[in-house]
This record gives sequence, structure tokens and C-alpha cells, in this order.
Amino acid sequence: MAKQFDVLILGSGAAGLTLALNLPSHLRVAVLSKGRLEHGATWWAQGGIAGVFEQSDTTEAHAQDTFIAGANLSHRDSVDQTVNHGPESIRWLIEQGVPFTRSGDDYHLTREGGHSHRRIVHAADATGRAIQTTLMERAKAADNIELFEHHIGVDLITRRKLNLGANACIGAYVLNQTDSSVEPFLAQRIVLATGGASKAYLYTTNSDGGASGDGIAMAWRAGCRIANMEFNQFHPTCLYHPKAKSLLITEAVRGEGGVLLRPDGTRFMQDFDERAELAPRDIVARSIDFEMKRLGSECMYLDISHKPAEFVKEHFPTIYERCLELGIDITKEPIPVVPAAHYTCGGVITDTAGQTDLKGLYAIGETAFTGLHGANRLASNSLLECVVYGSTAAKAISTELADTEMETIEVPPWDESQVVDSDEDVVISHNWDELRRFMWDYVGIVRTNKRLERADHRVELLQREIQDYYKNYRVSKYLIELRNLALVSELIIRCAIKRTESRGLHYTLDYPEAEPDLYDTVLVPDNYHWSID
Ligand code: FAD
Ligand code: SIN
Repeated sequence: MAKQFDVLILGSGAAGLTLALNLPSHLRVAVLSKGRLEHGATWWAQGGIAGVFEQSDTTEAHAQDTFIAGANLSHRDSVDQTVNHGPESIRWLIEQGVPFTRSGDDYHLTREGGHSHRRIVHAADATGRAIQTTLMERAKAADNIELFEHHIGVDLITRRKLNLGANACIGAYVLNQTDSSVEPFLAQRIVLATGGASKAYLYTTNSDGGASGDGIAMAWRAGCRIANMEFNQFHPTCLYHPKAKSLLITEAVRGEGGVLLRPDGTRFMQDFDERAELAPRDIVARSIDFEMKRLGSECMYLDISHKPAEFVKEHFPTIYERCLELGIDITKEPIPVVPAAHYTCGGVITDTAGQTDLKGLYAIGETAFTGLHGANRLASNSLLECVVYGSTAAKAISTELADTEMETIEVPPWDESQVVDSDEDVVISHNWDELRRFMWDYVGIVRTNKRLERADHRVELLQREIQDYYKNYRVSKYLIELRNLALVSELIIRCAIKRTESRGLHYTLDYPEAEPDLYDTVLVPDNYHWSID
């Protein structure tokens, strides 16, 4: 028996929960999370959320910074919508109860790379945890919202797949990890809020939950266009330590005066950009990568120890504690850092309300391509995009559902007649490692045509193997994620091959200059069919 709701949301991060909480209470809402509710990028967000509050700041300045960081590729409509709704979105979070850090009567504003003003509202250095905890509490208390932990969307259900005439998305097949059953969840509107795809890379700041590109892969298989996947953001400063592979050292450390050093203690960022440590992320990550390769060094160093110890502990309590546990006292010594895959700027193409190419299907948060981030996301614009688009999509969905009734549709059960339990999970883990390693080596911070072609060939072979496995064995979390990551890696490589210039996060030795014309790299699936009225 299928489960039925008015709105089905895949994802319980900032985007999914904002949407759920902004829907009217007469709508029955299901929110799925593939692990615990808090497992996703939102929980780990450190620096904060950007919004115009400082007296001398303006939304036009915020827009301008977004365009500059995005190497002029950001879309005007999305930028305007996001920055103009910034302050009210942050006020909405405050109303929900998020305990942002205060400074006297106001909220403290910190600074990050690429921002011309102090603009980052934050909860010390654990902003995501504060937002996620608050929104989870609100969602748990809402009578119309049902939360399903350990439920993984496998694929979308469309009318076309069921030969029901005019196409639309009507639900998803969902793996319930507690009993390994797969059941259909049906709804009038389906929302992909599954986060990004940074786990396509060996080293990433995304440590659990999402980041395997599930929503992007599901949308592509259902016939939606995908864009700008070549723009993978590498965060410049992930801790370099064998026991803490994904610990981010927030950009706010540089915003509050932290400097980047070579192993010999000399600064280098001023040799690459006049904004030095506060240049946009793509430039800082590439500079670190350049210096590491030039010097044959395993890492560079981020130093904030010249600031008073109390200041450091007050602003960065989580990083201070975590580093101390690992034997690094950041009030006294520099922090070893390396760049790591952090954020997916591309994704499922949507309009300014989050509507995808497929009727009934929305995409929001890191899964979506709204055009906001252009070729490189400005720091702290992601949480903002999640909240702005979460609430805009909620408005659009509630208007659409104001006078519609849920249709009764018979959906075939998930077919397991041809599959058996996997007897060789080692194949899956081997393929995971191989994929993430060649993505890191060939499709990383610096690219070439030759490396991309090599990666293209490897991903094709890998996908054939994974597809074979998928047809013959019962689905599991790791198999679902691997299948999606391999597909999303193919999309990243295809977009990277299409872009014959260097711009923002896409840097290739074969085309080191930016082209005069601005364009998005749009991929169109074979089963693409425009189904919006
Ligand atoms: P997520 O928060 O990643 O949530 C994804 C959800 O989807 C999870 O609930 C997951 O379980 C669920 N899911 C995934 N696949 C499936 C599936 N198949 N079926 C069902 N559910 C599924 N941005 C900022 O603006 N400011 C910051 O300070 C900042 N700091 C960051 C620090 C770190 C370490 C990281 C990793 C990112 C940071 N970012 C920051 C980026 C930002 O946190 C994310 O882009 C944002 O939180 C994404 O939110 P989301 O709701 O789209 O996805
Ligand atoms: C950070 O705190 O450096 C991350 C901010 C972001 O990803 O926007």
C-alpha cells in the first residue's frame, strides 16, 4: 500500500525543513531523511548566513559581491530574489528560535571572503547546528508534518513511466532502511532537497548524510535538465590531520584576521590577489593548491594565534575544542589546512520558485541550480538560498494546491523478483574508492582536456558495472549512493568538457582565459520533455 501525502519532501536540511514549516497546516507533509534528521550539510555549517543588516551595507552591494564571486555568471533574477529576501529570511529564523550570536542589542556580524561588508549572521562557529536543531524542533511539534528517518528516495515515480498520459511527478520509491523494504510514497507535489554531491571527491568537508547527489541523479533520470555541474567549490581550508578528514576551518577565521602561511611561515595570498586572504574561495583554494604543488608540501597553514586567546576561543569555540583534542592549540600555533570539495554550485534547473522541468517536481537548496552562485558561490549564500527558496517554493506549492484534489493512482509495487542479496559488498566499496579518487585526480581544482577524457572513460566503465550490480542485487544505501554518485560524476565531467574556458571554479590548463560570452553548461537528458503548463 502506497503512503499518500499532499507534499513529499526528500531531505531534512535547512531547505527541506524551511519548506515544510512554511506550508499551510492543512497540507499533510512527509519529510524524508536518509539517516538521522540532522545528518546533512546543514548541521556542519560553521561561518553563518549572509544578509544585509549593517548600516552602510545595501542589497545592491550584496548582489554585486555575489556577481563578482560568481565570475559574472550568476543570474540577475535569482540574485535579486535571494539578497532582497535575505534580511526577512534571517528574521524568520530568529522567530523560529535560532540563537544567533549577539553583540549588545544587535546580532554580531562577521566577515568572510568576497564580502565587501560585515554581513554574516552566525551562532559562534556552529551556525548550521543551531539552525538545524531549531527547525527540527519546530517540525517535530507541527501536527501536519510526519518525519521519516532512515528513508531513502531511490527513484521518482512519474505519470509517463506508468503510461498515464500527460507527464508529472507523483511520488518516489523509498527504501525503508529499518526493514529493507521499498515502498511508494505518493504526493501532489514532490520536493528534492537532498543536498549536493561533494562526496564525488576523495576529500570533502561533507562528512555524513547527504552529498551523494541523489536528488540531482533522480531528477536527471526522470527527464529534468541539469546545469553547471563543473563548478564544484573546493573550500580552501579543511583541517589536514589523519584523524579528522572532514573538519572545516571556517572562512570566518580569515574574516577575523587569520592569515595563510607557507610551511616556512611566510604569507603568500598577497602574491595571488590584492584581497589576499579575503579573496573569493576559488582564488584562495587555487593559490593553496599552487603553493602545495610548487613546494611539494602536504598542506599550508592558517594562523590566528596572533589574536588574543580569549577572542579566538569566544569566536571559534568548536574549532578550538576539536583542534585541541587533536593536539593543535590554535591560540598558540598555526593550523595545517588543505582544500577539499565543499559545495555543488550546479544542479537541477529550476525557476525562481523552485519548479523544475517536470510538473509536480520542485528542487531547492544545494540540489537546485537557481543561477544564484554563477561560477563560484559567495560564502554564506547557501544557507540563505535554502531559506529563501524553501519559503518561496512553499508559497508556490500552497497556491497550486489551493483547489486541487489528490488523484487516486494505482502504483505497481517495487519489483524485487529478479534480484538477490548482494554477496560481494567489497565491489561497492572498491567502486566508491575508485570513483572518488579519479574524480579528485582528474576533475579537481586544476583540469586539462586529457584528464577529463580519462575520467570520462573511467566513469563510463564504472557505470556499466554499477548498473549491472543494480539490476541483479537488492538495493542498499551504499548501492543507491554509488549509482547516484557515478551518474552525477558523469554529469560533472560532461559539463567540464563542455566549458572551453577557465571561469570561477572551473580552471583548465588548456583554456586558461575566460571567454567573452557568458553561458551556462546545460545538459538535456534523452527523455527530456517539458511538462509545465
Ligand atoms: P543538506 O543540509 O545537505 O540536507 C540534505 C538532506 O537530504 C538530508 O536530510 C539527507 O538525509 C537528505 N537526503 C539526501 N539524499 C536523500 C535521499 N535519497 N532520500 C531521502 N533523503 C535524502 N553554507 C553557508 O551558507 N554558510 C556556512 O557557514 C556553511 N558552512 C558549511 C560548512 C560545512 C562543513 C559544509 C559541508 C557546508 C557548509 N555550507 C555553508 C553549505 C551549506 O551548509 C549547505 O549547502 C546547505 O546546508 C545545504 O542544505 P540542504 O538543505 O540543501 O541540504
Ligand atoms: C565557512 O564557514 O567557511 C563555510 C561558509 C560557507 O560554506 O558558506
